[in-house]
Formats: sequence, C-alpha cells, structure tokens
Amino acid sequence: MINPFPDLNKIAIAPSILSANFASLGKDISAVERGGADLIHVDVMDGHFVPNITIGPQVVKDIKQIAKQPLDVHLMISNPDKYIETFIDAGAAMVSVHIEAVPHLSRTLTLIQSLGAKAGVVLNPSTPAGSLEEVASTLDFVLVMSVNPGFGGQAFIPHSLSKIKKVKEVLSNAGVKAPIEIDGGIDETNIQKVVTAGANIIVSGNAIFGKSDPESSTLALRKAALA
Ligand code: DX5
Ligand code: ZN
Repeated sequence: MINPFPDLNKIAIAPSILSANFASLGKDISAVERGGADLIHVDVMDGHFVPNITIGPQVVKDIKQIAKQPLDVHLMISNPDKYIETFIDAGAAMVSVHIEAVPHLSRTLTLIQSLGAKAGVVLNPSTPAGSLEEVASTLDFVLVMSVNPGFGGQAFIPHSLSKIKKVKEVLSNAGVKAPIEIDGGIDETNIQKVVTAGANIIVSGNAIFGKSDPESSTLALRKAALA
C-alpha cells in the first residue's frame, strides 16, 4: 500500500468539501483533483460538539469510490471513539479528533493507528499549544483550527500564526517531525503567512469551492503559497 501521508517538505492542499455543491460532489472533487489537490478534507459535524450537522460515514464511503486522493477526515463530534472504525472502514486515510472532545487522547490516537489510518490531534483556537506535550510522540499530525469550528467561510483568526509557531516548538522539543495542518479562513491573501509560520497541510473550503471554478482556485492557492 502506498503511504498516503503528505511529505513534510512539501505543501499539501486539502480542499474542504464543506463548501462544495453537495448535489454535484463527485464533479467538484474531480475538479480540485485536476487542480492539484493532495488530500480531500472531509468535515464531519454532529450538531453537538459543534452547532452544525454535515457528513456521515456513508458519504465518506461514496466519496472514496470516486476520489483519487486520500481522504482526510476531520471529526468535529462528541465521543469520536464510537465512530472511528466506521470512518476508517469507509475509507478515511487520516482521522483527526479534537483534544477538547476526547478524555483519553492517547488511547484514541492508538485506536486510529491500529486501524491503519494516520492520527491527528485538533486544537480549537482557545486551546493552548502546550496541551499537546504529553501526546506529541504518539500523534501523526496536528490540526490547528484558525476559526472556531462549525462553519465554512469564516474569517481567519490572526493569532493562529503564533499558534502554529508554538505547536512547531512543542513538536520539535519532543523530537517529533509531524505535519501541521491549518484549517479555517485560508485564502490567497494569507496562505503564504501560514506556510511561513510552519503549516504544511493547508485546508481551504470557501476560497476554493466558493469560486466558479474550483480547479483553477486550487491551482491559484498553491501558486499563492509558493509565491
Ligand atoms: C470548519 C471546518 C473547516 C472549514 C474550512 O469547522 O473544519 O474545514 O470548512 O472552510 P473555510 O476555508 O471556508 O474556512
Ligand atoms: Zn475541517
């Protein structure tokens, strides 16, 4: 099996399908893949941990049939342990859980890994980078939220830049080389800043699917990141 995990030395673009047209999801996913998407970011919300309800395992299973790129499943749900196996069976290559939603984080990360997926820890904007210290050596990647989770199209929270740097520091102090993913309000105007701060997996929803041509907006985003 090919390891689907993004190369630490490259920028991975992960379009969030939350802002796609769900009536033509397959078409939208193919468009971002033609535009060079490295991952497909799937936002799972339960109306409990966050105030919105989105995608369940069946949709992930159907996407898996048509997507060429690995599925990066971001669980914004209470009690994620209950659903992890179902999402991995459905085709998730990466699964991230919120530190705020999980009482036994290292057990949850081990569960994800034991089922063959990469395990990510997500931090809400108000959660300090230091909370990663005790699990740094167990995780495969960190997801820094740059908006409060729940909805696409929100404005980037500026202090997320210093948060990325702090997370990088926590990982390096623990001797861990793991990708840092950033999620929320990323567009052509700020992508370079998050990359410079140390993020290497870039999630973007509205700036890609909110435009008329998701293929060219994916290309434009990468171009802006490397400019
Ligand atoms: C927010 C989600 C994000 C969001 C990104 O709760 O986790 O993935 O959809 O979308 P934009 O880029 O529109 O903020
Ligand atoms: Zn997300």
